[in-house]
Amino acid sequence: MGIFVRKKKDNDNETDKRISLVATQPLARPSRLQKYEESLSKVKPKEVDTLASQETEDQKEEATPPLSEWFTMGEENFFEKEVYTLVRRRVQELLLTTQDQAIETLTTQEAESVVRPLYEQALVEEGLALSHQEKQELFSAVMAEILGYGPVQPFLDDPSVTEIMVNGPHQIYVERRGKIEKTKSRFQDNEHVMRIIERIVAPLGRRIDESSPMVDARLPDGSRVNAIIPPLALNGPTITIRKFSKIPFTVEDFIRFGTFTREFATFAEAAVKARLNVVVSGGTGSGKTTTLNVLSAYIPHDERIITIEDSAELQLKQEHVVRLEARPPNIEGKGAITIRDLVINALRMRPDRIIVGEVRGGEALDMLQAMNTGHDGSMTTAHSNSPRDTLARLETMVLMAGMDLPLRAIRQQIASAMDLVIHQERMRDGSRHVVRVSEIVGMEGDTILMQDIFVFREEGVVSGKIVGRLQPSGIRPMVLDKIEKAHIELPPEVLALPDRKTFEL
Ligand SMILES: Nc1ncnc2c1ncn2[C@@H]1O[C@H](COP(=O)(O)OP(=O)(O)OP(=O)(O)O)[C@@H](O)[C@H]1O
Ligand SMILES: [Mg+2]
Repeated sequence: MGIFVRKKKDNDNETDKRISLVATQPLARPSRLQKYEESLSKVKPKEVDTLASQETEDQKEEATPPLSEWFTMGEENFFEKEVYTLVRRRVQELLLTTQDQAIETLTTQEAESVVRPLYEQALVEEGLALSHQEKQELFSAVMAEILGYGPVQPFLDDPSVTEIMVNGPHQIYVERRGKIEKTKSRFQDNEHVMRIIERIVAPLGRRIDESSPMVDARLPDGSRVNAIIPPLALNGPTITIRKFSKIPFTVEDFIRFGTFTREFATFAEAAVKARLNVVVSGGTGSGKTTTLNVLSAYIPHDERIITIEDSAELQLKQEHVVRLEARPPNIEGKGAITIRDLVINALRMRPDRIIVGEVRGGEALDMLQAMNTGHDGSMTTAHSNSPRDTLARLETMVLMAGMDLPLRAIRQQIASAMDLVIHQERMRDGSRHVVRVSEIVGMEGDTILMQDIFVFREEGVVSGKIVGRLQPSGIRPMVLDKIEKAHIELPPEVLALPDRKTFEL
């Protein structure tokens, strides 16, 4: 239950004009705060400080909503602005006058112990009487602002949130369990969002302003951040955060979620160990990188792995891993190191495996060439709508390398280099599934031949959730030859194959 009252202070004086103005001129107060105070006095015409303990159940019913709700109610988000801004400003002022050391350099605990007395002082000075819970909430909000990333901080701390989307100051959406939901949190104004973006990018030596209005960055915990601001973003400064999951998903998690089946996992293990070249494909946010990471667990620990990414997201379990990260151009537009540069360099680093986080351009050609010249077992992801579309995209990417190769030659490169396409989707119920696993069989005329090994069959919808299963097609895949050559035995039931003896007859 919320108790909030701004008491007129006995010792209001001229030293703090701003505060005394607010406190002594009730008419100047915006109506909302006034309404809140009126509703309080209606419920409790008694001594404010003792209200909390004397409440009856009935009184609670008609009482004013708690502070936390006032924080988020209404279009202008008035209450948050008023109380929170007042207290935050006051604490920040006090911090400036009392604290020599930059607060960012302290640990969270140290900073809390510095800020708490100032916060208490600010409450007293502002004449705010808050309940214990409100006090705590407001303190966290102030701390988040001082130390963290403001209104997005609680979502960064909430492990059930996987993605955070800020569309200008008044809309914050998050993704939980694959579903996007609008939150009640808001920023105060464009300025506030800009402050937070600056806080994210400044430590990385990047900047955001009208002349460079887009930036990719990473939070200290590894979460991936993109920010784009006006005049390009019409809603106001826009932030998208893909949270880094601290505990990476495992094969067992994916089986439990229904992303794929144990049979597929066994097949994938064989494919990775037999050094097949694999692309994980799918739409934006379909879970490609995560699946790549999960499958990478099957790479034997005695191999030297080189990972190449735009922004390092992969978390390999192996010890012998060299991680490379591309570099965007600097402010003068110079000094960029592309994924392609890194792929070429990686080939000189005696790799057993090259894992490219995502192929988007000319690096596809270098990867295909590497795969065709003994660097088997490479893995990557690509953006596409289906396994067949993945191949078309690869073709386009190879063309982007600018080598002017004939299409047939490109297709031949692809057909001889690639073995498997694992296609993933984010379904309409928010769940992520591997929906099709296809192998590349070879060429017929100018066309690359593909064959399905697993296909997801949807069986229905139960309480909003899609029910289905990734089923083997029952066809003996060509890649089985490679798997057998690597002396890996795959139980026939994994692929739902007929008994081998009968099959070979
Ligand atoms: N199988 C899964 N089940 C549930 N959540 C998943 C699954 N795979 C990925 N996710 C979650 O989905 C989000 C997107 O995952 P991921 O980064 O792997 O997608 P992506 O396809 O690589 O995206 P992008 O196109 O942006 O590179 C992450 O928050 C991740 O934790
Ligand atoms: Mg990705």
